[in-house]
Amino acid sequence: MRVLGIETSCDETGVAVYDGRGGLLSHALYSQVRLHREYGGVVPELASRDHVRKLLPMIRRAMAQAGSGPQQIDGIAYTAGPGLVGALLVGACLARGLAFAWRVPAVGIHHMEGHLLAPMLEDPAPAFPFVALLVSGGHTLLVEVRGVGRYTTLGESLDDAAGEAFDKVAKLLELPYPGGPALAKLAESGIAGRFEFPRPMTDRPGLDFSFSGLKTAVLTALKRAPRDAQTKADVARGFEEAVVETLVIKCERALQQTGERRLVVAGGVGANRRLRSRLKERVSALGGEVFYPRLEFCTDNGAMIAYAGYLRLCNPQSTDASAAVRTRWPLDTLVAP
Ligand code: KG4
Ligand code: ZN
Repeated sequence: MRVLGIETSCDETGVAVYDGRGGLLSHALYSQVRLHREYGGVVPELASRDHVRKLLPMIRRAMAQAGSGPQQIDGIAYTAGPGLVGALLVGACLARGLAFAWRVPAVGIHHMEGHLLAPMLEDPAPAFPFVALLVSGGHTLLVEVRGVGRYTTLGESLDDAAGEAFDKVAKLLELPYPGGPALAKLAESGIAGRFEFPRPMTDRPGLDFSFSGLKTAVLTALKRAPRDAQTKADVARGFEEAVVETLVIKCERALQQTGERRLVVAGGVGANRRLRSRLKERVSALGGEVFYPRLEFCTDNGAMIAYAGYLRLCNPQSTDASAAVRTRWPLDTLVAP
């Protein structure tokens, strides 16, 4: 079974070809970062139009690289949500159109399912069951994963997502969009301990998160402090420490609560180096193991959609021809293929 995967939920166009025997045969990624930078964030309509421009040539290239013509493709997977409605529709309509023309099934994939299965493209791949920490620009979720489509949400952010908090604090620090990686880089030259920010919701039981108060704490600290370069780096360091420590505490708690040993981390913030090293240390101390996708598959990409599509299309399922997309879509409502 060979699947073409298409990701267009936000500001990255991702395309990949995954084969059940050969693995990942090709993948291509185009980031719209430069397009949105002058606006300081993603402009949805510009995102949709750029997906229209880039998608078809990228599909042609990825298929050629995989040595695949339409005859070799057995199914098409596309991100059906959650995400920006216009951007999602570009991928959904093209995927459905190609599937109709090539007479193959198409399947709409939940973007976060793509993220949480992405570490399974690596060697060694985590075995089910595991706990997944999904940390992206739109979501912060702890999920118990018993198999494909068998998900129970253990906790989630009640307000801002972790990536969103990184992006908003980066803006306060006058860093360019996208803020997360820029803030993490600045934090490297920051002095630990000069700014101590709260670890929200760690002083009470439960696995939910809240990051909006942290942003306010940073704003208050910045108003009182001098605005020199070192101070900004120190604030970035304090903020990163606070987010990382909060995420680590909740992951430890989730592993203890479920009795699982394996933790999978995915989503854009999963690329954060401090988070990766701190989790490795603390989860090992609990006798557990942490799994990540390779760095380029932490953020949005087509490979995770092709792979999730492969897992779902391996089990024949009733697929209608609808190109419906969902801007909101609770992960717990998915069912096993
Ligand atoms: O998964 P993703 O590519 O897109 C969404 O589905 O949202 O995640 C993007 C998010 C952004 O908020 C970005 O600032 C954050 O991930 N991010 C990081 C890092 N790299 C990306 N946050 C902290 N440290 C990083 N190294
Ligand atoms: Zn994502």
